[in-house]
Amino acid sequence: MFHSKIAGIGMYVPKNVVTNNDLKKYMDTSDEWIQERTGIKERRFAHRTEETTTTMGVEASKIAIERAGLTPQDIDFIVFATLSPDYYFPGCGVLLQRALQMKSVGALDVRNQCSGFVYALSVADQFIKTGMYKNILVVGAEKHSFGLDFSTRGRNVSVIFGDGAGAVVLQPTEDSNKGILSTHLHSDGNNAEILAMYNPGTHANHWSKGQQLADFDEAELGEMFMSHDMIDKAQNFPNMDGPAVFKVAVEKFPEVILESLKTNGLQTSDLKLLIPHQANLRISQFVQHKLKLRDDQVYNNIQKYGNTTAASIPIALCEAWEEGKVSDDDLVCLAAFGSGFTWASALLRW
Ligand SMILES: CC(C)(COP(=O)(O)OP(=O)(O)OC[C@H]1O[C@@H](n2cnc3c(N)ncnc32)[C@H](O)[C@@H]1OP(=O)(O)O)[C@@H](O)C(=O)NCCC(=O)NCCS
Repeated sequence: MFHSKIAGIGMYVPKNVVTNNDLKKYMDTSDEWIQERTGIKERRFAHRTEETTTTMGVEASKIAIERAGLTPQDIDFIVFATLSPDYYFPGCGVLLQRALQMKSVGALDVRNQCSGFVYALSVADQFIKTGMYKNILVVGAEKHSFGLDFSTRGRNVSVIFGDGAGAVVLQPTEDSNKGILSTHLHSDGNNAEILAMYNPGTHANHWSKGQQLADFDEAELGEMFMSHDMIDKAQNFPNMDGPAVFKVAVEKFPEVILESLKTNGLQTSDLKLLIPHQANLRISQFVQHKLKLRDDQVYNNIQKYGNTTAASIPIALCEAWEEGKVSDDDLVCLAAFGSGFTWASALLRW
């Protein structure tokens, strides 16, 4: 069986920098509040009409493919993770396949929110290990700025998120000491509603036990997926119980990181770099403290980009690599937690 290694990595963030003070134009918030609670100073927002989740994914992919010494025609499978797709369906994978004029290779879309990239990487890893594919493109991209409530009502969610994309090319290696050593995927749907965007959807309030997650019109058929009422009542935006998310995140991050190390007979002291999903700087600091990691062992760039969900890990990994913080033989752990809840890790030897 082969191991998978990252043969090329790329990232793309939009030019438009949006500071915390810029957000004050739309909502009652402050730079102090945002920095104190999340560590975020600024984020990037995509061009409203010229950039989409897919186009950002395309830009990151071009760099990753070139760095792997390949052309888009060499890619034999695509895995695309996002929660903010260009279309409800089809997914971004096929749009990327079209934009990069690739062969008619398989394109799989992953919907695991903040854990999306690690889940996508794990799926790609299995295809490489079995020898089925040789050059897999794994992409994480988000255009959050299109789907958030920028009024004061939505401020607890909208100040956190930013746009961007990251991509890697996975290839087989026969060196069993290199590449992805193991991946670890988890879920617990008991808390599905506390970090969720309910609408548009087919739930019809089925799961909410009396709570109206959607107001729809009385029609015999249809009109429940997305109604005028839902839009009038701002039920088309993400919903988050921040403190509840925080509490579970600081428990699951260390758990899944230690799981990856234990599986491979390694310890936190062996880690060159932990790249946590950039959910909140306070969460990363809590995890660092709990695992007794030094500052140089944990990479954070949420200060510049906010939480870019499925894109945050490949963006952070790409920046860390470009800054020379990851090089040959380094042990790197990618770890994520998010909506679902889902959480995951991948341990790799660069
Ligand atoms: C969202 C988060 C930053 C909120 O911080 P918090 O300290 O828990 O704040 P709370 O939600 O309890 O709100 C505290 C107060 O700030 C207010 N507030 C919320 N958002 C605000 C904003 N952007 N600006 C100013 N005030 C805000 C609230 O209305 C509340 O006011 P009140 O006390 O008068 O009711 C924090 O809970 C968090 O980061 N959670 C994890 C979220 C996350 O990581 N999500 C992604 C998962 S992958």
